[in-house]
Amino acid sequence: MARDQWGTRLGFILAAIGSAIGLGNIWRFPYVCASNGGGAFLFPYFFAIITAGIPILILEFTIGQKFKGGAPVALGKMNKRWEWLGWFQAAVAFFIATYYVAIVAWAISYIGFSATQAWGADTKSFFFSQYLKLSEGPLNLGGIQLHILIPFLAVWLIGYVILSKGIKNGIEKANKVLIPTLIVLTGVIVVRGLTLPGALDGLNYLFTPNWEMIRQPQVWVAAYSQIFFSLSIGFAIMIAYSSYLPEKTDLVNSAFITAFTNHGFEIFAALGVFSVLGYMAGTQGVPVAEVAAAGPGLAFVVFPAAISALPAFKGTVGVIFFTTLVFSGFTSFISIIEAFTTGVIDKFNLSRQKALNLCMGCSFVISFAFVTGAGLYILDILDYFINNFGIVLGGVLEVILVGWFFDLEGLRIHANRYSDFAVGKWWTYMIKFVTPLVLGFMFIQNFIQNIKMPYEGYPLNALLMIGWGAFALCFVFGFVFYLMKGDPSVMLQPGKEEVSK
Ligand code: ALA
Repeated sequence: MARDQWGTRLGFILAAIGSAIGLGNIWRFPYVCASNGGGAFLFPYFFAIITAGIPILILEFTIGQKFKGGAPVALGKMNKRWEWLGWFQAAVAFFIATYYVAIVAWAISYIGFSATQAWGADTKSFFFSQYLKLSEGPLNLGGIQLHILIPFLAVWLIGYVILSKGIKNGIEKANKVLIPTLIVLTGVIVVRGLTLPGALDGLNYLFTPNWEMIRQPQVWVAAYSQIFFSLSIGFAIMIAYSSYLPEKTDLVNSAFITAFTNHGFEIFAALGVFSVLGYMAGTQGVPVAEVAAAGPGLAFVVFPAAISALPAFKGTVGVIFFTTLVFSGFTSFISIIEAFTTGVIDKFNLSRQKALNLCMGCSFVISFAFVTGAGLYILDILDYFINNFGIVLGGVLEVILVGWFFDLEGLRIHANRYSDFAVGKWWTYMIKFVTPLVLGFMFIQNFIQNIKMPYEGYPLNALLMIGWGAFALCFVFGFVFYLMKGDPSVMLQPGKEEVSK
């Protein structure tokens, strides 16, 4: 079966940007930043971009393109035993897909609510009690919420149709339309935000460092995991996407363009979000820190309140804001599904349709947990554990194995072959020394801290079943798929000639 391919380099870059720019930028970044010291967070954040984000993105583009396989097969071609890690990363993507779809579905509902500001005066109780019908705790499911089910099914269906059309005719085309539109719409929000009274207070909050916080390991882990999540690295996506690249591709440049656009967009969107928060804090006469500290509910609680407080064009601004969430989330959602689907297509030599039916079918069933009354709790726990442990561990193991037990210099030469500017030795140092050291240390610290203190005070059995449980399942999933017999011809395809040291 001929392997699908991107139609143009621009198409690939737009899709990579589409994957990177997602809920992580608009929904997650503002509250992670706010809960990790506001401006203080930016220092570890930029440090993590330079030491891990960009180097790993170049690495993943190179691995995917050179070995022509999703993470399991590509890593497996580098060293048979590393296929396990590819499946571990694919499993992380699998879990993310199950809850990611729910947030996109909420945002769709909120486009509708925006038109009339249906959330009323108390946006908090509207979101938690009326909309989510939040149950008493993570293990008390409280039944399927039909009003969430409708947008939820729509996201699955549209995702299925686009992914069925393949890389060039499905994913590439969707991104070519959605990404430019998303950037224009975000521009509107930012201009509106910055021109509001009080915007400066919000920006001050965002950019004023709190040096106390920087000493805490969890702030660093939060920064690294935000970078991994936001750049879609460490969980099989970028290896899968770049596996569909033609031979002559400028990998280094593509990685820089993707990373700069993603982080530029993240900060750009944050300007809009924080200036709106500044405005709202002003109207309520409270400090920005107070309105910003809303956790995962920030986009659905604080933003609606801010929209209602706007002097004019409330409906328009609301519709635009939630449309940006939907577009950015949707283009990432399809990339997350593609991450593990490509793994299955490759290993078992299945048709795209069959692999999609299987992969999407399984994640579809599990994702129903997020349409129940306990959805937000489960999501919060899963998101935390999968990001801080699953993604980070997948990333650390990747840099250690490839950096220390593979011909990293050979990969650097490969990356530079068709690149306008060559990536220098600094890259090797980052992959080999800096990232494993910083990330490994932070991971262990954070791991110990979480064992000592249950996350957010959730009941221990819920954390064990959902958070630690999903993390453990990624290992199981990794080994089971690794041990399964695949199509024997797969490992003989291009890239096999490379052997590890
Ligand atoms: N990179 C995607 C995001 O930021 C997963 O949401």
